[in-house]
This record gives sequence, C-alpha cells and structure tokens, in this order.
Amino acid sequence: MSDGYYISKKTDDICDDVCGQGSKAAATISRLKCVLRGFDIRTLLCLFILIPFAILAIYLHGQKLTYFFRPLWESPPQPFRTLPHYHTENATMASLCSLHGWGVRDSPRRVYDAVLFSNEKDLLTVRWKELYPYVTQFVLLESNSTFTGLPKPFVFKTNKDQFSFVEPRLTYGNIGGRFIKGENPFVEEAYQRVALDKLLRIAGIEEDDLLIMSDVDEIPSAHTINLLRWCDDILRSSTSSLRTTCTLSSTTSTARAGERLCTVTVRKTRYAHFRQSDVLLSDSGWHCSFCFRYISDFVFKMKAYSHSDRVRFSHYLNPNRIQDVICKGTDLFDMLPEEYTFKEMIGKMGPVPRSYSAVHLPSYLLDNAEKYKYLLPGNCIRERQTG
Ligand SMILES: *[C@@H]1O[C@H](CO)[C@@H](O)[C@H](O)[C@H]1NC(C)=O
Ligand SMILES: *[C@@H]1O[C@H](CO)[C@@H](O)[C@H](O)[C@H]1NC(C)=O
Repeated sequence: MSDGYYISKKTDDICDDVCGQGSKAAATISRLKCVLRGFDIRTLLCLFILIPFAILAIYLHGQKLTYFFRPLWESPPQPFRTLPHYHTENATMASLCSLHGWGVRDSPRRVYDAVLFSNEKDLLTVRWKELYPYVTQFVLLESNSTFTGLPKPFVFKTNKDQFSFVEPRLTYGNIGGRFIKGENPFVEEAYQRVALDKLLRIAGIEEDDLLIMSDVDEIPSAHTINLLRWCDDILRSSTSSLRTTCTLSSTTSTARAGERLCTVTVRKTRYAHFRQSDVLLSDSGWHCSFCFRYISDFVFKMKAYSHSDRVRFSHYLNPNRIQDVICKGTDLFDMLPEEYTFKEMIGKMGPVPRSYSAVHLPSYLLDNAEKYKYLLPGNCIRERQTG
C-alpha cells in the first residue's frame, strides 16, 4: 500500500516538471495524461484492495444498505386517523363513551378473542388473564408445523392444565401441518388463518359480536375492550383497528418496532390478518415480539416465524449473541428501523434506550412480578434451558 502511494506521488512530481514547459494546450494535454497515469495506479489499487472489501461489505450489510434507502424506494403507508383515547378507573361507561363522542348501549356486545398459537405460553397467560373479564369465547388454533414448515409439538394441548381458568369459555382446535419444503412461510400462515376462521364459526360468532384479531403477543388492554363492547356508534363504519404500543419489555430488541395494530371488528366476523381500517384508537394495548423467558425460545421464533429470512447468518442464532442483543437493546436481526423518512430512520438508529417504567403494564404481570421478573425493568438476563 505504501509502495503504491509512493509511486503515484513520484509520478506526480515528474509530471509537474514536464508540465512546467511547453504551450498551454500541450500542457493541458500532458497534464491530462499525467492525471490518467496517476489514476491508473489508483484504479489498480481499487481493483485489488477496495473491490474485495466492497463485495464483502455488501455481502454482510447489503440488506442494511437497501433498508437505509427505503425512503427512496418505498412511500409510507396511508396515514391512519388517530382517535384520542380517554380512560380513568371510576368513570361510568356512559361518561367514557361520551368523551369519545359515542353513545352507550343497554348491554355490552359479546367478545371473541381469536389467536393462532405457536409456543408463547407465558404471553398467552398474560393475555387471557388481562382479557378474561370481558371475553365471551377464547378461540385458539395450533398446528404441528411452524409457518416455515418445521415440525413442532402441540404445545397448548400438552400444557392445557395451565389454562384451566378459561376452560368453560375455550374453543380449541388443532390441525396437521402440510410440511411443504421451500414454500413461502406466508402460505402456511394463510392456511392456518383460514382454519382459525372456521373455528370461529364453530365457536358461534354472530353479527355484532366484537372480534379481536391479533397475534398472541399483541395484547389489547382490558379497559379498551370494555369501552368498545359498551359503546355504540364507534364501529358505525363497520370496522375499527386499535393501535397498541409496545411497552411490555423495553430491554427486548424488537421493542423498537414500536407500535403494531390489533384489529377489533364488529359486523365483520371473518378472520383476516391485514389492515382493516384507517382508524386507530391511541394507546390501547401492548405488543412484544420477543418477550420470552428462555434463550431457546428466541432461537425457535427466529427460525419459525414468517420473517425467518431475516436470519441471514447462522451466528445470529448464537445464544451468547442473543443475550448480548437483549441487554444492549440492539436489533436481533441487525436490521435498520423500518421508517420512511431519513430523519425518522436516523433518529431511531442505535440501541433502544433503557426504560425504568413498569407503569401501565398488564396487571397480571405485576400481580405475579416474581414469576414474570424477566419482563420487568432491570432483568435482561434470560435463562438458557428449555421450558
Ligand atoms: C373508585 O370506586 C371505588 C368503589 O366505588 C372506591 O373505593 C375508590 O375509592 C374509587 N377510586 C377513585 C380514584 O375515585
Ligand atoms: C401433525 O398432526 C397430524 C394431525 O394431528 C398428524 O397426522 C401428523 O402425523 C402430525 N405430523 C407431525 C410431523 O407431527
């Protein structure tokens, strides 16, 4: 490297001497030649040193580069119309509904909560305890295939005893996976969601019932569901979605995903997993993609869910790395924030700031703080063995 630099410097010196003489035009031409000669050496340097580095860098960080330029290739989704959300403990339903500009019903709607279950036993418990007072039927479907076609046990079936508290209100179903190699995971996911829709009919859902459609780890707060089952007119436009904010564990890397949508519908009882409405109710629940007790659960989910293509290198699954990511609050898949402007993306780059707040969490978490210590502030170390 230093040799190359020396030669090119030397060449420039010679050039200067030559260029000092002769006519202006000749000088320009010879200067050009000199520049090109110097350039040749630099080009060679580039070819032999920089290009292999560049290829390596693109191989390692190519996805990051594309994501960094997202604001150029993708425009943001249609913005939501966000509704303000009011809540206080002792207000009457009539006054709460009226704060939102809605009427109050004579009797509450029936509520159905439908989930596709994988292995998130802890979060399912938190979810069902949170929603229990207001849910008419819990509908749960599980498969012995992950979305990525890996075999898995019927985790719910074998742990049914832990969920006896919902027994009288539970409609449970399971289906065998199709195990098709090399298929897009979204196809298996869609197949399971169709089966969940059938299970909802079996559970007896009717027009005007309230249906919660969200992943197990997207948990609407109980008071939100109570508000929606009591108030009228809210869903005049036939559907409404809820924005949920991820506050469950700020030490978990994907906390940066920020907010996700739980969808609550009435009069449309068909289970669908896409955006149903342009209306959002602010601050109405929690989302946590990687709220797991064991490192092995992180590894399982990284391999099993529809975004498993994000595991581009096998060292992403290394337990020591995962533990490190959780405590630092960086990204499990080493990805950039999904934002649509450079300002927001750069603002969200880097680790998620540590939070010391455990206010506004599902009450079951705090009632069982010892058991759920790993989701509370200051406990980023995860256990190694399987559960
Ligand atoms: C709410 O109501 C309960 C029972 O009516 C009462 O004991 C409690 O003090 C009230 N809390 C507030 C904040 O007003
Ligand atoms: C999955 O479940 C179906 C139906 O219960 C069963 O027939 C099949 O053998 C199971 N497959 C695996 C790999 O466990």
